[in-house]
Amino acid sequence: MHTPVLIDSRLPEVGTTIFTVMSRLAQACGAINLSQGFPDFSPDPALAAAVAGAIEAGFNQYPPMAGLPALRTAIATKLQTAYGAAYDPETEITVTAGATQAIFTAIAALVRPGDEVVVFEPAYDAYGPAVRLQGASLRPLALLAPHWRPDWAALEAAIGPRTRLVILNTPHNPTGSAWPREDIERLARMLEGTQVCVLADEVYEHMVFDGARHESVARHPALAARAIGVSSFGKTYHVTGWKVGYVFAPEALMAEFRKVHQFNVFTVNSPAQAAFAGFAARPETWRDLAGFYQAKRDRLRAGLAASRFRLLPCTATYFQLLDYRAISDMPDVAFAEWLTREAGVAAIPVSVFSHDRRDEGLVRLCFAKQDATLDAAIERLCAL
Ligand SMILES: Cc1ncc(COP(=O)(O)O)c(C=O)c1O
Repeated sequence: MHTPVLIDSRLPEVGTTIFTVMSRLAQACGAINLSQGFPDFSPDPALAAAVAGAIEAGFNQYPPMAGLPALRTAIATKLQTAYGAAYDPETEITVTAGATQAIFTAIAALVRPGDEVVVFEPAYDAYGPAVRLQGASLRPLALLAPHWRPDWAALEAAIGPRTRLVILNTPHNPTGSAWPREDIERLARMLEGTQVCVLADEVYEHMVFDGARHESVARHPALAARAIGVSSFGKTYHVTGWKVGYVFAPEALMAEFRKVHQFNVFTVNSPAQAAFAGFAARPETWRDLAGFYQAKRDRLRAGLAASRFRLLPCTATYFQLLDYRAISDMPDVAFAEWLTREAGVAAIPVSVFSHDRRDEGLVRLCFAKQDATLDAAIERLCAL
């Protein structure tokens, strides 16, 4: 008999994520999967060809730790073109294995045991575990429906001597909202004179609708000076499985980020980096993304107008929230499962994005799908 090894879990409350659970259930039930946030269509064939070409051309060994110089230069050009911001590719930009690794590495680099990290809820599920693994604690603050603006008094009260980091996610998953300029400027004023850093998760930066602009921290010098900004090529170029993203930050912050990055992944797959180097600086490869997803949003909303769901505002990202309380009084997790099994459409319950499982009778649909997929889901949802 072997003595069993007892593991005192560092994340005892973490199980399989709801995204995996719902995607599995969708598959088992043959449901249309609008749960997980990924496109069901292909990337630009020229991008796929560029990866194949890069392999042929010999981009197959370790690239430099911070990323291929050509890609970092392209990212710097993009940040200048899109936001008028100057980041030095040598010292202020690093290529990462998607945004998830960037977020984890940034938190590991900045946060120590006993620190507090402010997150706005509902919140993307990667932040909390990364904070807790550093021995720090979360200060979750609820965003206020239906426009998901921050409660400024609560934020003011939350920021104290132990606050190390504020995690900002705009455009926002799961609510499909984006912070307006006045909110970003107010946050910048509130942090003035503090030692608080900002982790700005901007993976949906090119999906802001109705002519509004994305308020990147890169546009706001007072915030940029204390911020690590994160983006994801997976989201922008419809290749979530390639897991390539990047961070931008002032040199001192980036130096700390790289100290962790070099032992966390060291570097990121070279053919994809070489391919993105030919795309990232060209505005035509991201400029039309907002229009592309806005048309899908409009299609979904118009289709669901006749349903019994109440649609919350959707001004950004590829997520639409639905209030189902006219249909059912089930808790949202049970409703999402019922919807998958009985209606054949998989969605994500919004309570999973809050530490206290705050249930407001909402589910999230992802509309990064072909029109035919959306139309089939609309038909099923309108039948309820
Ligand atoms: C808000 C947010 N941040 C980060 C990520 C992860 O991005 P990546 O696939 O590049 O790791 C996602 C993916 O769903 C997201 O929604």
